[in-house]
Amino acid sequence: MFISFASIVFGFSLGALAAPSSLGGDSLAQRTSTTCGGLNGIAGFFDTTPNVTLSAWNRTLPNANDTGVPLVLVPIGETGGPNAVHLENLATFASVGINFWPTVALDQGTLIGNFMSTPADGGVPTFTVATQAAAGTALQFSSSSKSLPNNPIFCAVASTSAEGGGPRGPALAIGTDTDHFSLCQSQGPANLIIYQASATNDGSYDFNTCYPVTVVIDDLV
Ligand SMILES: *[C@@H]1O[C@H](CO)[C@@H](O)[C@H](O)[C@H]1NC(C)=O
Ligand SMILES: *[C@@H]1O[C@H](CO)[C@@H](O)[C@H](O)[C@H]1NC(C)=O
Ligand SMILES: *[C@@H]1O[C@H](CO)[C@@H](O)[C@H](O)[C@H]1NC(C)=O
Repeated sequence: MFISFASIVFGFSLGALAAPSSLGGDSLAQRTSTTCGGLNGIAGFFDTTPNVTLSAWNRTLPNANDTGVPLVLVPIGETGGPNAVHLENLATFASVGINFWPTVALDQGTLIGNFMSTPADGGVPTFTVATQAAAGTALQFSSSSKSLPNNPIFCAVASTSAEGGGPRGPALAIGTDTDHFSLCQSQGPANLIIYQASATNDGSYDFNTCYPVTVVIDDLV
Protein backbone atom coordinates (compact mmCIF):
# COMPACT_ATOMS: atom_id res chain seq x y z
CA MET A 1 0.00 0.00 0.00
CA PHE A 2 1.14 3.48 -0.72
CA ILE A 3 1.55 6.31 1.70
CA SER A 4 -1.81 7.28 3.10
CA PHE A 5 -2.44 10.96 3.14
CA ALA A 6 -4.33 10.56 6.36
CA SER A 7 -1.03 9.45 7.91
CA ILE A 8 0.86 12.53 6.76
CA VAL A 9 0.88 15.60 8.92
CA PHE A 10 0.09 18.65 6.88
CA GLY A 11 0.56 22.23 7.88
CA PHE A 12 -1.86 23.81 5.49
CA SER A 13 -2.34 27.44 4.85
CA LEU A 14 -4.99 28.89 2.65
CA GLY A 15 -3.69 30.84 -0.27
CA ALA A 16 -4.71 32.22 -3.57
CA LEU A 17 -4.64 29.79 -6.44
CA ALA A 18 -6.28 31.11 -9.53
CA ALA A 19 -9.47 29.20 -10.21
CA PRO A 20 -9.36 27.69 -13.65
CA SER A 21 -11.47 29.71 -15.98
CA SER A 22 -14.15 27.77 -17.76
CA LEU A 23 -13.93 26.65 -21.32
CA GLY A 24 -15.39 28.51 -24.23
CA GLY A 25 -16.09 32.10 -24.96
CA ASP A 26 -14.15 34.62 -26.93
CA SER A 27 -11.41 35.08 -24.39
CA LEU A 28 -10.05 31.62 -25.14
CA ALA A 29 -9.60 32.24 -28.83
CA GLN A 30 -8.27 35.72 -28.29
CA ARG A 31 -5.77 34.95 -25.60
CA THR A 32 -2.25 35.41 -26.80
CA SER A 33 -0.09 32.80 -25.25
CA THR A 34 3.02 30.77 -25.61
CA THR A 35 1.25 27.68 -24.31
CA CYS A 36 0.50 24.75 -26.61
CA GLY A 37 3.63 25.58 -28.58
CA GLY A 38 2.07 28.94 -29.43
CA LEU A 39 -1.04 27.25 -30.82
CA ASN A 40 -3.37 27.87 -27.90
CA GLY A 41 -6.84 28.67 -29.18
CA ILE A 42 -5.98 27.45 -32.66
CA ALA A 43 -7.00 24.23 -34.42
CA GLY A 44 -8.23 22.35 -31.38
CA PHE A 45 -5.38 23.30 -29.03
CA PHE A 46 -6.43 24.80 -25.70
CA ASP A 47 -4.59 25.43 -22.45
CA THR A 48 -7.45 25.67 -19.94
CA THR A 49 -10.13 23.20 -18.91
CA PRO A 50 -12.68 23.01 -16.13
CA ASN A 51 -12.22 20.29 -13.53
CA VAL A 52 -11.86 16.98 -15.33
CA THR A 53 -10.53 13.47 -14.86
CA LEU A 54 -7.83 11.72 -16.88
CA SER A 55 -7.71 8.27 -18.37
CA ALA A 56 -5.30 6.22 -20.45
CA TRP A 57 -6.38 5.06 -23.87
CA ASN A 58 -4.46 2.11 -25.24
CA ARG A 59 -2.80 3.02 -28.53
CA THR A 60 -2.01 -0.55 -29.49
CA LEU A 61 -4.87 -2.80 -28.36
CA PRO A 62 -8.61 -2.39 -28.72
CA ASN A 63 -10.07 -0.44 -25.80
CA ALA A 64 -13.09 -1.56 -23.82
CA ASN A 65 -14.69 1.84 -24.39
CA ASP A 66 -13.87 5.25 -25.85
CA THR A 67 -12.31 6.68 -22.69
CA GLY A 68 -9.87 4.03 -21.45
CA VAL A 69 -8.73 3.28 -17.93
CA PRO A 70 -9.07 5.92 -15.21
CA LEU A 71 -5.86 7.61 -14.01
CA VAL A 72 -5.24 9.11 -10.57
CA LEU A 73 -2.42 10.81 -8.71
CA VAL A 74 -0.58 8.47 -6.40
CA PRO A 75 1.65 9.68 -3.55
CA ILE A 76 5.22 8.42 -3.95
CA GLY A 77 7.07 10.22 -1.19
CA GLU A 78 8.20 13.61 -0.06
CA THR A 79 11.13 15.91 0.18
CA GLY A 80 11.46 16.75 3.84
CA GLY A 81 12.19 19.89 5.75
CA PRO A 82 10.03 22.77 6.88
CA ASN A 83 8.81 23.37 3.35
CA ALA A 84 8.01 19.70 2.77
CA VAL A 85 6.88 18.95 -0.73
CA HIS A 86 5.01 15.74 -1.37
CA LEU A 87 5.51 14.03 -4.69
CA GLU A 88 2.96 12.19 -6.76
CA ASN A 89 2.91 10.29 -10.02
CA LEU A 90 0.02 9.52 -12.31
CA ALA A 91 -1.10 5.88 -12.19
CA THR A 92 -4.05 3.75 -13.16
CA PHE A 93 -6.68 3.74 -10.44
CA ALA A 94 -6.94 -0.02 -10.92
CA SER A 95 -3.30 -0.45 -9.84
CA VAL A 96 -3.38 1.72 -6.72
CA GLY A 97 -6.97 1.74 -5.49
CA ILE A 98 -6.80 5.13 -3.83
CA ASN A 99 -7.58 8.61 -5.04
CA PHE A 100 -7.08 11.78 -3.05
CA TRP A 101 -7.44 14.06 -6.07
CA PRO A 102 -10.90 13.56 -7.59
CA THR A 103 -10.25 16.02 -10.40
CA VAL A 104 -7.51 17.89 -12.20
CA ALA A 105 -7.68 21.07 -14.24
CA LEU A 106 -5.57 22.78 -16.85
CA ASP A 107 -5.07 26.42 -15.96
CA GLN A 108 -3.31 28.25 -18.77
CA GLY A 109 -1.08 25.27 -19.39
CA THR A 110 -0.45 24.33 -15.76
CA LEU A 111 -1.86 20.94 -14.77
CA ILE A 112 -3.36 21.26 -11.30
CA GLY A 113 -4.58 18.47 -9.01
CA ASN A 114 -7.62 19.22 -6.86
CA PHE A 115 -6.84 17.63 -3.51
CA MET A 116 -9.78 16.17 -1.66
CA SER A 117 -9.33 17.37 1.87
CA THR A 118 -10.89 15.32 4.62
CA PRO A 119 -11.43 15.92 8.32
CA ALA A 120 -8.46 13.60 8.93
CA ASP A 121 -6.22 15.95 6.98
CA GLY A 122 -7.43 18.96 8.85
CA GLY A 123 -9.97 19.66 6.15
CA VAL A 124 -7.92 22.32 4.43
CA PRO A 125 -6.60 22.33 0.87
CA THR A 126 -3.14 21.93 -0.48
CA PHE A 127 -1.61 22.97 -3.77
CA THR A 128 -0.82 20.30 -6.29
CA VAL A 129 0.85 21.05 -9.62
CA ALA A 130 2.44 18.86 -12.27
CA THR A 131 6.04 19.94 -11.91
CA GLN A 132 7.99 17.56 -14.09
CA ALA A 133 7.56 15.88 -17.44
CA ALA A 134 11.09 14.82 -18.25
CA ALA A 135 11.95 12.32 -20.95
CA GLY A 136 12.16 8.79 -19.60
CA THR A 137 10.53 9.57 -16.25
CA ALA A 138 7.14 9.41 -14.61
CA LEU A 139 4.90 12.42 -14.95
CA GLN A 140 5.48 14.03 -11.57
CA PHE A 141 3.32 16.26 -9.43
CA SER A 142 4.29 18.18 -6.31
CA SER A 143 2.00 19.08 -3.42
CA SER A 144 2.65 21.69 -0.80
CA SER A 145 0.82 23.77 1.74
CA LYS A 146 2.40 26.76 0.03
CA SER A 147 1.42 27.75 -3.45
CA LEU A 148 3.65 26.29 -6.14
CA PRO A 149 4.91 28.00 -9.29
CA ASN A 150 2.95 27.58 -12.47
CA ASN A 151 4.42 25.11 -14.94
CA PRO A 152 2.62 25.97 -18.17
CA ILE A 153 3.94 23.12 -20.31
CA PHE A 154 0.66 21.26 -20.83
CA CYS A 155 -2.02 21.54 -23.45
CA ALA A 156 -5.23 19.81 -24.48
CA VAL A 157 -5.73 18.74 -28.07
CA ALA A 158 -9.27 18.14 -29.26
CA SER A 159 -9.93 14.64 -30.52
CA THR A 160 -10.33 14.35 -34.24
CA SER A 161 -10.32 10.59 -34.28
CA ALA A 162 -13.32 9.49 -32.21
CA GLU A 163 -15.23 8.38 -35.27
CA GLY A 164 -12.19 6.50 -36.49
CA GLY A 165 -12.01 4.47 -33.29
CA GLY A 166 -9.89 6.90 -31.30
CA PRO A 167 -10.62 8.27 -27.84
CA ARG A 168 -13.63 10.52 -27.40
CA GLY A 169 -12.04 13.22 -25.28
CA PRO A 170 -9.19 15.63 -25.95
CA ALA A 171 -5.66 14.36 -25.47
CA LEU A 172 -3.25 15.76 -22.90
CA ALA A 173 -0.11 17.11 -24.52
CA ILE A 174 3.26 18.33 -23.35
CA GLY A 175 3.66 21.32 -25.60
CA THR A 176 1.92 19.83 -28.61
CA ASP A 177 3.17 16.27 -28.05
CA THR A 178 0.31 13.86 -27.32
CA ASP A 179 2.12 10.81 -28.65
CA HIS A 180 4.83 9.83 -26.18
CA PHE A 181 3.07 8.74 -23.01
CA SER A 182 3.21 5.13 -21.89
CA LEU A 183 1.85 3.04 -19.07
CA CYS A 184 4.71 1.16 -17.41
CA GLN A 185 4.86 -1.09 -14.38
CA SER A 186 6.74 0.43 -11.46
CA GLN A 187 8.72 -1.55 -8.89
CA GLY A 188 5.59 -1.52 -6.75
CA PRO A 189 1.96 -2.06 -7.69
CA ALA A 190 1.54 1.25 -9.50
CA ASN A 191 1.13 1.19 -13.25
CA LEU A 192 2.58 4.61 -14.05
CA ILE A 193 2.29 7.20 -16.80
CA ILE A 194 5.80 7.71 -18.18
CA TYR A 195 6.79 10.38 -20.68
CA GLN A 196 9.06 9.14 -23.46
CA ALA A 197 9.59 5.79 -21.79
CA SER A 198 13.13 4.51 -22.15
CA ALA A 199 15.01 1.30 -21.44
CA THR A 200 17.56 3.58 -19.80
CA ASN A 201 15.78 4.86 -16.74
CA ASP A 202 16.37 5.30 -13.03
CA GLY A 203 14.92 1.89 -12.20
CA SER A 204 11.53 3.22 -11.20
CA TYR A 205 9.79 1.24 -13.94
CA ASP A 206 10.32 -1.78 -16.14
CA PHE A 207 10.56 -0.66 -19.75
CA ASN A 208 9.61 -4.14 -20.97
CA THR A 209 6.13 -3.64 -19.51
CA CYS A 210 5.49 -0.31 -21.22
CA TYR A 211 2.85 0.24 -23.84
CA PRO A 212 1.90 3.49 -25.52
CA VAL A 213 -1.22 5.33 -24.40
CA THR A 214 -2.98 8.57 -25.07
CA VAL A 215 -3.76 10.46 -21.86
CA VAL A 216 -7.38 11.41 -22.42
CA ILE A 217 -9.14 14.32 -20.77
CA ASP A 218 -12.54 12.98 -19.75
CA ASP A 219 -15.83 14.63 -19.06
CA LEU A 220 -15.43 17.64 -21.30
CA VAL A 221 -18.82 18.51 -22.68
C1 LIG B 1 -2.97 -2.19 -23.64
O1 LIG B 1 -2.27 -2.92 -24.61
C2 LIG B 1 -1.20 -3.69 -24.10
C3 LIG B 1 -0.52 -4.37 -25.24
O2 LIG B 1 -0.08 -3.43 -26.18
C4 LIG B 1 -1.70 -4.70 -23.09
O3 LIG B 1 -0.60 -5.41 -22.58
C5 LIG B 1 -2.40 -3.97 -21.98
O4 LIG B 1 -2.95 -4.88 -21.06
C6 LIG B 1 -3.49 -3.08 -22.52
N1 LIG B 1 -3.98 -2.31 -21.42
C7 LIG B 1 -5.25 -2.03 -21.25
C8 LIG B 1 -5.58 -1.24 -20.03
O5 LIG B 1 -6.13 -2.39 -22.02
C1 LIG C 1 -13.64 1.94 -19.73
O1 LIG C 1 -13.03 0.66 -19.60
C2 LIG C 1 -12.08 0.56 -18.55
C3 LIG C 1 -11.51 -0.84 -18.58
O2 LIG C 1 -10.72 -1.00 -19.70
C4 LIG C 1 -12.74 0.85 -17.22
O3 LIG C 1 -11.78 0.82 -16.19
C5 LIG C 1 -13.39 2.21 -17.26
O4 LIG C 1 -14.07 2.45 -16.07
C6 LIG C 1 -14.34 2.29 -18.44
N1 LIG C 1 -14.87 3.64 -18.51
C7 LIG C 1 -16.15 3.89 -18.65
C8 LIG C 1 -16.53 5.34 -18.74
O5 LIG C 1 -16.98 3.02 -18.70
C1 LIG D 1 -12.48 22.64 -9.17
O1 LIG D 1 -12.41 21.84 -8.01
C2 LIG D 1 -11.91 22.53 -6.88
C3 LIG D 1 -11.73 21.52 -5.78
O2 LIG D 1 -12.81 20.68 -5.67
C4 LIG D 1 -12.88 23.64 -6.51
O3 LIG D 1 -12.38 24.34 -5.40
C5 LIG D 1 -13.02 24.57 -7.69
O4 LIG D 1 -13.98 25.55 -7.40
C6 LIG D 1 -13.42 23.82 -8.94
N1 LIG D 1 -13.35 24.72 -10.07
C7 LIG D 1 -14.31 24.80 -10.96
C8 LIG D 1 -14.09 25.78 -12.07
O5 LIG D 1 -15.33 24.13 -10.90
